[in-house]
Amino acid sequence: MAAVSKGEGGGDMAQFIAAMPKAEYHVHLEGTLEAEMKFALARRNEVKLPYADVAAMKRSYVFHDLPTFLKVYYEGMNVLLREQDFYDLCYAYLAKAHASNVIYAEMFFDPQQHIDRGVPIADVIGGITRARAAAQADMGIESQLILCFMRDLTASNAMNALDAALPYKEQLVGVGLDSDEKDNPPSKFAAHFAKARDAGLRITAHCDVNQKDSLEHIRQALIDIGVERIDHGGNILQSPELVALARQRNIAFTVCPSFSGKIVVDGKPVDVVRAMLDQGLKVTINSDDPAYMGSKYLTEVIIDTQARSGLTKAELVRISRNAFDAAWVAPDRRDRFQAKLDAFARKWAVAT
Ligand code: HPA
Ligand code: ZN
Repeated sequence: MAAVSKGEGGGDMAQFIAAMPKAEYHVHLEGTLEAEMKFALARRNEVKLPYADVAAMKRSYVFHDLPTFLKVYYEGMNVLLREQDFYDLCYAYLAKAHASNVIYAEMFFDPQQHIDRGVPIADVIGGITRARAAAQADMGIESQLILCFMRDLTASNAMNALDAALPYKEQLVGVGLDSDEKDNPPSKFAAHFAKARDAGLRITAHCDVNQKDSLEHIRQALIDIGVERIDHGGNILQSPELVALARQRNIAFTVCPSFSGKIVVDGKPVDVVRAMLDQGLKVTINSDDPAYMGSKYLTEVIIDTQARSGLTKAELVRISRNAFDAAWVAPDRRDRFQAKLDAFARKWAVAT
């Protein structure tokens, strides 16, 4: 288990974090495809992998920016071909999330990447939906699904994927925006977001940290598109006006500290989770693409973040409360999640 800082972080902190009821909204299902599962699926589907074994594959997981990560991430998806593959992928993630005491997850997927490889969207959404139901029946974990537009493909490619997915909109809760951000602003997808909203879907968008035009992309997402959440979004700390707007609109930030821990404000490095908390932003902690980030699922990510950002137990409960608040569910369901967190905080005598 990861090192835990001393002081507030010492003693029983790892146990506290492990036991805390959690929600997760920034996890790409395809980013949970562990190397071991890649080899198993490659065997099952008779796909040849460019690595001799799991260890060699894992050694190739070295990234220095978003494009170098995305190249490996998309290559990894080539083993996902059948409905059962998507079932296995999603069930495995939900089992790991459940082991982290995640009681509710909203998971991203990238349909364009699958459609373009000839996999029917019905199989992608069908396998994931079947796994969600099985995981809820077996473990009690609840989940929903968010379709992401790949911003570095054409607008028409994304529109085709949305049109293909809309017949399955009952299996979706929202749409998001991911992949390579450079020169791919949220405004490129204004028509897509409008169509999704008209279909009753909720709206979020990645604003990865330290990208070209990061602040302009955050501005577009908040003001022009009207997102309800921002995925990552740390650069907002460089704009007091946008911070004020996000606070006023109660925008949730799905921060992934494994990917996007630090930004620079006024020439000084700033810890995103710490600064968002201190500025009253609705920050949440998420795992993003755990299979590519040392296989750290939510408990381990929060343990690392607690040490790095100096989080108290009360702050950790607040972060979990932020997440349940931001759930795209009916109020009674949200209250049920919050009641579990309240009971946990009482048991640990954490004043919130
Ligand atoms: N950012 C952009 N695209 C992605 C990410 C991310 O964090 N993870 C998977 N695709
Ligand atoms: Zn992401």
